[in-house]
Amino acid sequence: MQQHTILKGQVLSFTRSPFDGDPNDAAQLDEAVLIRDGHIVTSGPLANLQKAAPDAKITDMGDALITAGFVDAHVHYPQTAMIASWGKRLIDWLNTYTFPEEMRFSDLAYATDIANRYFDLTLANGTTTAASYCTIHPASVDAFFTAAQSRGLRALAGKTCMDRNAPDGLCDTAQSAYDDSKLLLHKWRGVNRLSYMITPRFSPTSTPDQLSAMGALWAEHPECLMQTHLSEQTDEIAWVKSLFPQARDYLDTYEEHGLLGKGSLYGHAIYLEDRERDRLREVGASLIHCPTSNTFIGSGLFNTAARITEGQIVGLATDTGGGSSFSMLRTMAAAYEIGQLTGTALHPAQLYWLATMGSAQSLHLSDKIGNISPGIEADLIALDLGSTPAIVQRSARASDIWEALFPTIMMGDDRAIKQVWIKGNPMP
Ligand code: GUN
Ligand code: ZN
Repeated sequence: MQQHTILKGQVLSFTRSPFDGDPNDAAQLDEAVLIRDGHIVTSGPLANLQKAAPDAKITDMGDALITAGFVDAHVHYPQTAMIASWGKRLIDWLNTYTFPEEMRFSDLAYATDIANRYFDLTLANGTTTAASYCTIHPASVDAFFTAAQSRGLRALAGKTCMDRNAPDGLCDTAQSAYDDSKLLLHKWRGVNRLSYMITPRFSPTSTPDQLSAMGALWAEHPECLMQTHLSEQTDEIAWVKSLFPQARDYLDTYEEHGLLGKGSLYGHAIYLEDRERDRLREVGASLIHCPTSNTFIGSGLFNTAARITEGQIVGLATDTGGGSSFSMLRTMAAAYEIGQLTGTALHPAQLYWLATMGSAQSLHLSDKIGNISPGIEADLIALDLGSTPAIVQRSARASDIWEALFPTIMMGDDRAIKQVWIKGNPMP
């Protein structure tokens, strides 16, 4: 028998991108949403939905805002325990804090412990899908996917490949990276809602041979996404130049090795040259903005509005633990602040769209997650728009939904997440 559920509240769904035209009317608000067998059927007035499904169980969320769950398009779950590590910039931060922690993931028990901790933290923050880097250890991928699977989550991840400029215990080879990635890709292919991503860490930690091997694997498996980092800090870019003297620019170190195409995701992408921007747009690559990371590690200011206006696909992400928060609300707030510093006040609809539909699009999953519309998987959240006294007193003055939501975007955290549903099932 088919299982029907109705959630009642203020149901927010986007009808178009708020970057195309007036953001104020890019979404609609409905009284309720009908779910059948883990998917959205439709949203609308409660009476209509009850007529369509008289057997439906109704959950009344009061005046909570019911939306798609957040989609975090770039995280490093192995960095969960070392988030908020003080005082370094990218390369030092990797060597001092990140690599020693990632060494520990050769131990499946430790990896499992952190993967479970990661999902507990992110679900409490309303994130229902994450795309994660793992470590070089195949066990770290198994731990992540197993923890996602036990919670019924849609999740994406890959073994992080690196064969130079990292400690001995954290280097694979071109061949072993290819072999291990291929084994994992086959092992997890088609399992529940899990997707394998081909994951060279970034050009400084891969030899040209390893980048070629990753490019070859991607050519054999174009159905996979490919994730890496691009142009995050100026000293990183100078280092790439010295490691790849022949390359036209940073992007070329990927392009030359078959690692540029539709389905590629580049974290950060702050400092892009004209040629790089043109190529990224031409192929339909995704740029993943990680604002709390960019301020925390001191990387620089990504210009979201300019990138979207020129036609790039942009997703939003925490970049845990270079990012300083597990919360996509905090991440939206940081994106707003960086927008202010680059000359555009992003509208609350634009921020919220980036954290849901934008990220889903960047992961080529917008037909499955990221919005409330017919056929989409019912990974949903209910937001309390008055979760703290400071937020309550500000949203009390709001004259529309965007003004009511903005204080939660700017000042909210896990206390604002009243309920999470995974495929229509309430999470404990
Ligand atoms: N570049 C290469 N690896 C990393 C990482 O783990 N975090 C961030 N922020 N940048 C990177
Ligand atoms: Zn990253």
